Amino acid sequence: MPVAGLDLTAEIQSLKRGRNAVILAHNYQVKEIQELADFVGDSLGLAYKAAETKADVIAFCGVHFMAETAKIVNPTKTVVLPDLNAGCSLSDSCPAEKLEAHLKTHAEKNYYVVAYINCSAGVKALCDVICTSGNAAKIVERVPKDRNILFVPDENLGQWVIEKTGRHMDLWKGNCYVHVEFTRQAIERIKAEWPDAPVVAHPECTRAVRLLADEVCSTEKMITFCKQHPSQAFVIVTESGMLHRLRREVPGKHFIAGPTDKCACADCRYMKLNTLEKLHACLLNREPQVLIPEPVRARAEVPLRRMLEWSR
Ligand code: 13P
Ligand code: SF4
Repeated sequence: MPVAGLDLTAEIQSLKRGRNAVILAHNYQVKEIQELADFVGDSLGLAYKAAETKADVIAFCGVHFMAETAKIVNPTKTVVLPDLNAGCSLSDSCPAEKLEAHLKTHAEKNYYVVAYINCSAGVKALCDVICTSGNAAKIVERVPKDRNILFVPDENLGQWVIEKTGRHMDLWKGNCYVHVEFTRQAIERIKAEWPDAPVVAHPECTRAVRLLADEVCSTEKMITFCKQHPSQAFVIVTESGMLHRLRREVPGKHFIAGPTDKCACADCRYMKLNTLEKLHACLLNREPQVLIPEPVRARAEVPLRRMLEWSR
């Protein structure tokens, strides 16, 4: 609960120092959290930061699977998430029990399982290597050529990787509820209004939308693309927190969320559950913590470390 008269930002900074904590935030977090965080980035950057940190407490401002990733590589550290209900529809679309049953039913395929990082620790524990939107093609290219690949849980990202690598993969039928909402018609409307603005879309978007994009990339690569591209305006097709990061790091350029602000950028209701008040409370109480049963964590660490090594 917010405390009357408290300067939350100053309190959070002081708690952070006192607890030897680091605040890691995803690009989709609200402006106030991004501005306070020690590092703001995409899933890949956050995984590296979590693996490198010397802090005793990691306050992870993102969604549950991201905080779990930090815990997988830091079993002895305290990992707190401001709101434990910050889940992910994509992660939910692939429960570990279902994947386990699927692998048993298709045992003859002897699958090499590539899991997009947007999945639970239980799913990570069942797979061979993890990838993010920032390194998916690179990771898939390293999978032994004689193996059948099962890609979980995002069918849209998986399809995009197939197009980029030419590698056949069987796809799990999961998706992100935010990114599949963007339609080709909506993007066409924005393009008609802003014909010179390149369209930059996340690979979790459907193929119909990706086909209209000038660049399809992870949230972190959106920053580099917009910095380097000569255009002064861009249509951004992803979660709305990205607009804040872009406006902050690429000042002077214009980022278009659509004519109604709903057509090309939308809120992820899970990402938006984290607030400054909850961040303050979790640093104060060292709760709620993200905990993983040790056998699952240890098994999940193998494919995660493999990704960190292959992605260097
Ligand atoms: P990035 O790794 O590109 O930041 O994507 C994470 C995510 O949840 C996209 O919806
Ligand atoms: Fe999950 Fe989609 Fe939210 Fe990303 S935007 S955290 S994939 S529900």
